[in-house]
Amino acid sequence: MSLVVGTCLIVGVTDALAQKISYSPPDRSVIYSSDMQLVVTADGKLNQNAITIQVNQQKKELSVVDNLAYLQLTLQDGTNKLVVSRDGEAAQELTYIYQSPDKPVPPGFAVFYFHEAFVDGACGDCHEMDVEPFDINNLIISEEAISLCLECHDDRIQAKYIHGPVGMGVCTPCHDPHGTTEESLLKATGNSLCFSCHELERIQPHLDKLRGEGTTSDLCLSCHDSHGTDKKYHLK
Ligand code: HEC
Ligand code: HEC
Ligand code: HEC
Ligand code: HEC
Ligand code: HEC
Repeated sequence: MSLVVGTCLIVGVTDALAQKISYSPPDRSVIYSSDMQLVVTADGKLNQNAITIQVNQQKKELSVVDNLAYLQLTLQDGTNKLVVSRDGEAAQELTYIYQSPDKPVPPGFAVFYFHEAFVDGACGDCHEMDVEPFDINNLIISEEAISLCLECHDDRIQAKYIHGPVGMGVCTPCHDPHGTTEESLLKATGNSLCFSCHELERIQPHLDKLRGEGTTSDLCLSCHDSHGTDKKYHLK
C-alpha cells in the first residue's frame, strides 16, 4: 500500500535527519598546531558512505566505526573550511583557524587545545577499537591506557607528597585526554576541579579555618599543587 510505503520513507528520512551529531573540536575553533584529529560522534550507527567531508574543497575519507567517525588532518595557515555531508547533502560547516598563539583570537572563536599524544597517536593506543558489539559510550580503554598517562608523564609522580588520584595514575577526572578549550587540557577550572571529589560538606571545616583568605575561584590551587610537591598536603 502506497500509504505504508510513504510512511516508512518519511520515518526513515526523519530518523536520519534527527540523528544527533557532535563534532570535536567544535565549530569556530582556533587551533595552535597544524595537525589535528576530527572526531564525529552520532547517537546512531553511521553508514560508511553516508558521511563525507571536504576540507578546503578537497574530499577526504573518514574512518567510520559504527557511530564514530574520525580523521587526522593537517590544517593550512589561517582559515580552514570543512563541509560535512550526510547522504550527499551539506549538513554542517566547520571553521577552524590555525594560527600562532601570539595572534589575537577572532571574536566568536575559542581556542581548542589538543593533546599531542592524541594528535600524533592512533586511537588504538588507548582504546580497544574492535570490540563487538561496539558501543561509543563504552569505548573500552585498553588496559595499558591508565598507566599509559604515566608512561609519558612520570615526572608527575616524582615529588615526595603525591596527590591521591595522581599517585594512582588517575588523570582523567581533571584532564581530557583528547583536547579541551581550557589550557593544560583541563575539564574544569579553579575550585570546581576539587569539589568533584572533595565534597563541600566534608571540606567545610577546612574552609572555615581559611575564611580569612576569601573565596577566590582558584583558592585551592593557591596553596595546594594539583599533582604533588615535597611539602606535606602537597602544599606549594
Ligand atoms: C592518549 C590516549 C587516547 C588516545 C590516543 C585516544 N583516546 Fe579517546 N579517550 C581516552 C580516554 C582516557 C577516554 C576517557 C575519557 C574520560 O574518561 O573523560 C577517551 C574517551 C573517548 C571517547 C568517549 C567520548 C568522549 O569524547 O569522552 C571517544 C568517542 C573517543 N575517546 C574516541 C577516540 C578516537 C576516535 C581516537 C582516535 C582518533 C581516540 N579516542 C584516541 C584516551 C585516548
Ligand atoms: C605517547 C606519550 C603520551 C601519552 C601516552 C600521554 N601523553 Fe600527555 N602529553 C604528551 C606530550 C608529548 C605532551 C606535550 C609536551 C608536554 O607538555 O609534556 C603532552 C601533554 C600533556 C598535558 C599538558 C598539555 C598542555 O597544554 O600543557 C596534559 C595535561 C597531558 N599530556 C595529560 C595526559 C593524560 C591525562 C594522559 C593519559 C590519558 C596522557 N597525557 C598520555 C605525551 C603523552
Ligand atoms: C586534581 C586535578 C588533577 C589531576 C588528578 C591531574 N592533574 Fe595535571 N594538572 C592539573 C592542573 C590544575 C594543571 C594546571 C597547572 C597547575 O595548576 O598545576 C595541570 C597541569 C598538567 C600538565 C601541564 C604541565 C604543567 O604542570 O603545567 C601535565 C603534563 C599534567 N597536568 C599531567 C597530569 C597527569 C599525567 C596526571 C595523572 C597522572 C594528572 N596531570 C592528574 C590538575 C590535575
Ligand atoms: C579524582 C578525585 C579527586 C580530585 C578531583 C581531587 N582530589 Fe584531592 N584527593 C583525592 C584522594 C583520593 C585523596 C587521598 C585520600 C584523602 O586524603 O582523602 C586526596 C587528597 C587530597 C589532599 C590531602 C593530601 C594529604 O596528604 O592528606 C589534598 C590537600 C587535596 N586532595 C587537595 C585537592 C585539591 C586542591 C584539588 C583540586 C585541585 C583536589 N584535591 C582534587 C581525590 C581527588
Ligand atoms: C591558605 C592555604 C590553603 C588554601 C587556600 C586551601 N588549603 Fe587545603 N590545606 C592547607 C593546609 C595548610 C593544610 C594542612 C592541614 C590543615 O592545616 O588543615 C590543608 C589540608 C587540606 C586537606 C587535607 C586535610 C583535610 O582537611 O581533609 C584537603 C583535602 C585540602 N586541604 C583541600 C583543600 C581544598 C579542596 C581547597 C579549596 C577549597 C583548599 N584545601 C584550600 C592550606 C590551604
